[in-house]
Amino acid sequence: MIFVLSKYNIDLARAEVEALAGKKGELHENFLVLDAEFDFSRLAYTNKILEFLFHCRRTDLKNKFERFDWNEIYKNNFCIRSNEYKYQKDFAKLVWQSIDNPKVQLNNSDTEIWIYFYRDDAFVGKTVYEREEKFKMRRPDLRPGFFPVSLKPKLAKAIVNLSGVDKGKIWDPFCGTSGILIEASLMGLEVIGTDLDEKMIEASKKNFKKYKIDGKLTLGDSRKLKIDCDCIVTDPPYGRRASLHKSEIEKLYKECLENFYGFVDRVVIMSPSDVDIETKYKKKLVAVDFVHGSLSRKIYVLDR
Ligand SMILES: C[S@@+](CC[C@H](N)C(=O)[O-])C[C@H]1O[C@@H](n2cnc3c(N)ncnc32)[C@H](O)[C@@H]1O
Repeated sequence: MIFVLSKYNIDLARAEVEALAGKKGELHENFLVLDAEFDFSRLAYTNKILEFLFHCRRTDLKNKFERFDWNEIYKNNFCIRSNEYKYQKDFAKLVWQSIDNPKVQLNNSDTEIWIYFYRDDAFVGKTVYEREEKFKMRRPDLRPGFFPVSLKPKLAKAIVNLSGVDKGKIWDPFCGTSGILIEASLMGLEVIGTDLDEKMIEASKKNFKKYKIDGKLTLGDSRKLKIDCDCIVTDPPYGRRASLHKSEIEKLYKECLENFYGFVDRVVIMSPSDVDIETKYKKKLVAVDFVHGSLSRKIYVLDR
């Protein structure tokens, strides 16, 4: 397969695919070559997935196209697409010549062949999946329970995927308005949310109702609570809105992670870039999310 990753955050897009595939791929710019079958609709930062046909040097491409058996993958009609538009017609001609009864269809083609040029190389594949999800429809401000602390749905979905959990239970111990849990639940995962602030739990309850989510929500302090789950996915306070100082935020991270370490194997956690996370977990910095100006957040996967 060739996963065509969103250029917006390639690190995050790659980590998401690899977490769900359970293996590493080979990255060329924003193309991740990796053989794996899973529910592709879970991916937030992959735009398109191609069945891998071949990879060659740019200079060998014409030759390869002439020798490839296009009849084997052709279905009903075809079109050629490329990130270097000017070559589309020439290569379409080669495919046309090798197919028994060719038909070209530019939109919604049954056989969409992509040529991605990357430096001196060319990757060729057939489209098998295209992401059509409209994340805007689930914008936090359109939810009945809204506070301006919620993660955008696309980012929330991606960090749930970093858990690698296919079927199981996700706990968000700083759930706020449940931006993370809404995405996890829509992917078919079991969810449980806890927060120190009653207003947040009330807001989350309204959101669960809107999205018909059957999950538990309770009040509690993440430094003490023990909840059975397959993975924690969470986004603790950043310190700005909560008017907490950096040292207090660092203390909060340290104390809640000390608690989690006793009973949870994996934690996916976001933190403001200037906050140092001190923990016994093995820390892997997966990606950085640039919010605006000076605010960026690091996304970590912590494993015991
Ligand atoms: C950045 S917000 C989480 C936003 C959430 N991801 C969402 O989509 O709405 C952080 C949350 O942590 C909660 N919080 C702060 N300290 C806490 C603690 N010790 N235990 C549990 N929750 C806490 C705050 O009430 C706030 O709702």
